Amino acid sequence: MKSGETGQLAGKNVLLGVTGGIGAYKAAYLVRELQRQGAVVSVVMTESATRFIAPLTMETLSGHPVGLDMFSLTEERTIGHIDRAGWADVFLVAPATANYIGKAACGIADDLLTTITLAVTCPVVLAPAMNSRMWAHPAVRKNLETLVQRGVYVVWPGEGELACREEGPGRLAETGDIVKTVAGCFEAGDLSDIRVLITAGPTREPLDPVRFISNRSSGRMGFALAKAAVRRGARVQIISGPVEVAAPAEASVRRVNTAREMLSQIEQVLPDSDWLVMAAAVADFAPSSVHKDKVKKGDMLELTLTLARNPDILETLKPFKGGRLFVGFAAETRDMLENARKKAKEKGLDLIVANDVSGQETGFETDENSGVILDQGDLAEEVPRMTKLQMADRILDAALKVWKEKGN
Ligand code: CTP
Repeated sequence: MKSGETGQLAGKNVLLGVTGGIGAYKAAYLVRELQRQGAVVSVVMTESATRFIAPLTMETLSGHPVGLDMFSLTEERTIGHIDRAGWADVFLVAPATANYIGKAACGIADDLLTTITLAVTCPVVLAPAMNSRMWAHPAVRKNLETLVQRGVYVVWPGEGELACREEGPGRLAETGDIVKTVAGCFEAGDLSDIRVLITAGPTREPLDPVRFISNRSSGRMGFALAKAAVRRGARVQIISGPVEVAAPAEASVRRVNTAREMLSQIEQVLPDSDWLVMAAAVADFAPSSVHKDKVKKGDMLELTLTLARNPDILETLKPFKGGRLFVGFAAETRDMLENARKKAKEKGLDLIVANDVSGQETGFETDENSGVILDQGDLAEEVPRMTKLQMADRILDAALKVWKEKGN
């Protein structure tokens, strides 16, 4: 290995897709940095990308023919789109424009790069870059969300002055951060000895056969934790309330509705788990009685519901914790740190992830999150706004640190 090469990228084939944004010139630096880390880089460019940076530059730097045209007889004969896709150990698109992200999310294959996008089976990393208003557009957000749910890694754009002279998020992430994410795809599993039990989603507390009380949890944080833990080699068991998100194929999943069902499933699995990560938003109260038949409104102008306390799962399990590591979450709308510390103490947690759920852009029903990871001492690691998958890795890093400090 040459000096500067990291273990993870040495000898790996990186297929770099470049799409047409002003950040395209930075793709040249990316090629150099990936090569410095030992990777073999081959480049595919969209037609728009060639308006921003010359294919000759990319070909000279990469030392490989640049893929440009689906219908070029010479290109397809020497190395076709399927060969390129099969060659890649990792597929990186940087910069990824809003247009490319939209096509990738919808499965449109109208040029070489988007066709390769459908044909790759390796990990995919996207580094979006665009104007901040485009970045904030719901269509772009929805498309990215679709891709993230499919397991694509997104390197979040940076904030600052953009090429269009506006300020805001949208600038292509730093070269170092992109390369780090690409290298992360090959990280040896640092959690390979650990059995992680992760709860996710809301619970549903029925009132009658057609109605229930629940909350806004989408399950995305819990499932992101499961994805990250699986990728890092952990054996993962998910216990989830009703959610739409897909679970990683390698994890086993038990589905529940109510808090009591969740508790009972956890009790079954806990003896075979090393970590319990309670990302579920467990309902604290449930209707005191469940009507057998649908409640009819009749002449009623008001309906009073009586709710009874559900068991607090973490507090119930505290006496059975043994040498396990417990991680909890504190969803707060005020006095976040103070409330989180109190919860951690009461529930016997090694770590608590406090997040402010009053905002629109992070927390419930979004793909992004931010917060503070607190341990039993003074540690308070601020996690800035990032994807839930990226945040999951931060949480797992902190958990692993505490786990090792416990002598494991
Ligand atoms: N939790 C639990 N059992 C419950 C409620 C919550 O185990 N019945 C867990 C959650 O999964 C989370 C942590 O406790 O990891 C904190 O949950 P949160 O809803 O923030 O707090 P609560 O304890 O419910 O307190 P409050 O609703 O008063 O803020």
